[in-house]
Amino acid sequence: MIPGKILVTGGCGYIGGHTIVDLVNNGFEVISVDDLSNGSLKMLEGVERILGQSIKNYKVDLTNLDDTQAIFIENPDIIGVIHFAAFKSVNESVQLPLKYYRNNLNSLINILQCAKDYQVANVVFSSSCSVYGNAQKLPVDELTPLAVAESPYAFTKQIGEVICNDFVKQNPSISISLLRYFNPVGAHPTSIIGELQDKPENLVPVITQTAIGKRPEMTVFGADYDTRDGSCVRDYIHVMDIANAHTKSLQYLIGDHNKEACEVFNLGSGNGVTVLELIAAFESISGRKLNYKIGPRRDGDVIAVYADNRKAQKHLAWQTKYDLIAMMETAWNWELKLQNDTQKELN
Ligand code: WQD
Repeated sequence: MIPGKILVTGGCGYIGGHTIVDLVNNGFEVISVDDLSNGSLKMLEGVERILGQSIKNYKVDLTNLDDTQAIFIENPDIIGVIHFAAFKSVNESVQLPLKYYRNNLNSLINILQCAKDYQVANVVFSSSCSVYGNAQKLPVDELTPLAVAESPYAFTKQIGEVICNDFVKQNPSISISLLRYFNPVGAHPTSIIGELQDKPENLVPVITQTAIGKRPEMTVFGADYDTRDGSCVRDYIHVMDIANAHTKSLQYLIGDHNKEACEVFNLGSGNGVTVLELIAAFESISGRKLNYKIGPRRDGDVIAVYADNRKAQKHLAWQTKYDLIAMMETAWNWELKLQNDTQKELN
């Protein structure tokens, strides 16, 4: 057991919940803070079932500094914070920019204030590949210049990284890892936890909901891009691989292995896959023909982005364990499990 607690913000969310499983399985004591605006206690119940232990969640809005500070006062043994809590829909951020700037930036600022006030030396910030925008050269590595953010969501991540860099300059006793996720997909292999969204906007849950009949059809947002089949290219990565990278990143910081006070890592599989290729992969593992149509492009979409992930592999001793088939299998098994649970509730 590594001494001290890790505070996971957004611990009742998709990536937060899966990360708590990996952290505890690697000897960390974990507490969660989640205002349940996006997260769900069903996620935490599933995490507790997998781990066979309870995980405390503080239902706190992190944009409220007093309430956030109260968590650190009650838990003086917090040695690290993983800050997931943020709104993350590219599309919604285009429609509601102020909601995204207010929530995503104020919560980060409050977490950093608490790290300073309560001497928490290790912070992991959930950033995003969307900071790269439409990069000129692919794959992107951590030195790839950031292009203009294509959405307010992406801009909150770019600003968040600048805030972290400016913060550590004035607080040298604190180290931060900036983890740029590509597209997290899939579910825990037990199907006890997965992505819980009634009306998801992300591609993979839209695919599985269409395949199982929750949606009559889905739309491919544009097949006229300058890519190999006209649809957008993304780097899909299993949520458990993302989770393990957080554990590795904390161990890296706690062990003082970090080379800089604020260090960036790309968390992607390194493979670029188009929307149509992902649909074909899903159809082959599920045996179901997907009902989709080609529609207009979606505002805020990047044409193509995928990772050079060698820095994280080298410095964090991190390797992805799940390939595209496993991503689709676990996503589909999770959707089937949700349907099974619904049928049980109806009977
Ligand atoms: C992927 C592709 C859509 C839905 C995500 C996260 C964001 C960040 C970056 C981590 C796009 C297409 C989608 C549909 C479609 N991750 N699509 N029909 O926009 O890459 O952003 O990764 O920080 O938080 O949201 O993911 O799954 O929405 O879209 O054609 O019904 O699928 O146009 O090309 P995106 P996505």
